[in-house]
Amino acid sequence: MQNSDDKPGVPLRSATSNEEAQGAIDALLHEERVFRPLPETLSRANISPHQLAEAREQADRDSLAYWEEAAEELEWFAKWDSVLDDSNAPFYRWFPGAQCNIVHNALDRHIETANKNKLALIWEGEPGDSRTFTYYELYRHVNKFANALRSLGISRGDRVIVYMPPLPETIIAMLAVAKIGAAHSLVFAGFSAKALRDRINDSQAKCVITADGFYRNGRVVHLKSTVDEALAGVCETCAESMVVVHRANVETDMQEGRDYWYEDLVRQARPYAETEVMDASDPLFLLHTSGATGKPKGIVHGHGGYMVGVHRTFSWVFDIKPTDLFWCTADPGWITGHSYGVYGPLLNGATTVLYEGHPLYPQADRVWSTVERYGVTILYTVPTLIRMLMRFGDEYPRMRDLSTLRLLGSVGEPINPEAWVWFHKVIGKGDCPLLDTWWQTETGMFMISPLPVSLLKPGSVTKPLPGVEVDVYDENGHPVPPGKGGLLVVTKPWPSMMIDVYNDPERYKETYWSKFPGVYLAGDVARKDEDGYIWIQGRADDVLVIAGHRIGTAELESALASHKAVAEAAVIGIPDAIKGEVAKAFVLLNQDWEPSHQLTKELKEHIRRELGPVAVVKTIAYPDSLPKTRSGKIVRRILKAQELGQDVGDTSTLEH
Ligand code: WT7
Repeated sequence: MQNSDDKPGVPLRSATSNEEAQGAIDALLHEERVFRPLPETLSRANISPHQLAEAREQADRDSLAYWEEAAEELEWFAKWDSVLDDSNAPFYRWFPGAQCNIVHNALDRHIETANKNKLALIWEGEPGDSRTFTYYELYRHVNKFANALRSLGISRGDRVIVYMPPLPETIIAMLAVAKIGAAHSLVFAGFSAKALRDRINDSQAKCVITADGFYRNGRVVHLKSTVDEALAGVCETCAESMVVVHRANVETDMQEGRDYWYEDLVRQARPYAETEVMDASDPLFLLHTSGATGKPKGIVHGHGGYMVGVHRTFSWVFDIKPTDLFWCTADPGWITGHSYGVYGPLLNGATTVLYEGHPLYPQADRVWSTVERYGVTILYTVPTLIRMLMRFGDEYPRMRDLSTLRLLGSVGEPINPEAWVWFHKVIGKGDCPLLDTWWQTETGMFMISPLPVSLLKPGSVTKPLPGVEVDVYDENGHPVPPGKGGLLVVTKPWPSMMIDVYNDPERYKETYWSKFPGVYLAGDVARKDEDGYIWIQGRADDVLVIAGHRIGTAELESALASHKAVAEAAVIGIPDAIKGEVAKAFVLLNQDWEPSHQLTKELKEHIRRELGPVAVVKTIAYPDSLPKTRSGKIVRRILKAQELGQDVGDTSTLEH
């Protein structure tokens, strides 16, 4: 890539002040660097700028025809009656009448091709052990485990929880569950017993798949015991069985008749299992994600539309070639791991890398040594990790051979131009396009993202992909002029859109489709520049994105309020140089309680017990009162403005 620093191809965009934008985000408003694709990138790309422009034009004319062509690239047991059924919007149904199974496309069909003996997966454990699987080997493991699950009475339509660290068996479990027509529901291993219990209950899962323990930052973390704790108190018909993978050789209590070792089950299982024939909109998985209010929602994705969207976007954005080695650093427990750690690569017959442990273990070169060891060609990661690694300077990456890298990717939160430029220059040596991909658990696939041939502006996610239509609206639903901030919306259905909120269709309608009828509300604040480039500025609602992980202030507040010392709590996000954002809590104590160091420590531990290590509150303040509206709602906006030393704005509707 050429840095046209000295002679920007595009003039400085109007940097309108925006209340929502602060701290690191401010830098984005003044960013004016432009990176053009190098001639080598242009000549090697699968999709040329011309083809991209044509695809955009075609999709603008007829997006259904565009997506239908994308669907033709996959195998179906029966074709669709139509591409999209919008008769019951916003419950859009893609490819109605079609029959398929994503596992047929991700695995079964490769066994008949040259991919059969190609590596599907390279896994590395934190202590340095590693395992590899060809497509055929992975296929056999999945078949065996599918049979094992069937022998436990799991069948089409059931839900299965996968509470696992990043292990090969995590991927095997996902695929085996999907193969038999059940829906998987992954729960990140950093969540607490209580969070796990809530998710088991909410999804009414029949079975939980877990591991005895795993390695993280040089320590062994027990996992099975956390599941035992969660299961004490789940609904009666939930979690009738548990499958436990041997990983860390920790002492494990097994309950007769309920708990089974994975290895025992698969040893006896046959290596061929029939792949269930699913309707395109039958659930493939549930994944819980935090919202502005209430409990996390179970986002539901289906087999057909999801596979079309993920297959196309993975191959186009990452320009996949047969020789690529793709590493997504996200845990399979998040949507990034689902769509682009597992399904995207396998649907495209690519080789994917999975790493179990902490990215700085045993030292800060682990990411770079892993790239070197396997010859990773595409590295897809999160800004928070880039900033963390950047702190250790250029020496670690310089010690390693990173010459295999040809593309870099970023996701999860806005990437500040400093981190963008460091990643691009020091890791990508200036010649790897950096693809900043905007999407969500709900969207299932990349929505706004460059392709390698795109002109890049550090900090901008560039333009919507072909077949995707987005806009930036003001409060009244009118598109805002270039340069002005507003609410990011998606104005047309897309194939891998979520199907529902599990067991709560009202919440689906209300959360995403009620503010602007017929239009999907993403929940982000963004602005468009004069070239139509999109700049994401952060969440518009009370959702924090800490180190790329979404967490609702409501969840943190209710966890705090469940402690006996706490009368009331309000949580806000404040900008952080590494994590993007961190949580700060304002706590009103019950009578007889006094603020102290000890209490702060105890409250932090309490949150960790309630929600797990992912939910970190960095600081706790003990004010005398909280700003409230006359109807008694806490106004977090004021706390935030005070915290950042900004104007608190209009307070006329507040209680005084
Ligand atoms: C929220 C979705 C989908 C991947 C991981 C997060 C933020 C996501 C970007 C980006 C700026 C981003 C948004 C979005 N986000 N990608 N490239 N630039 N912000 O998934 O947990 O569903 O969170 O992450 O705020 O709404 P998620």
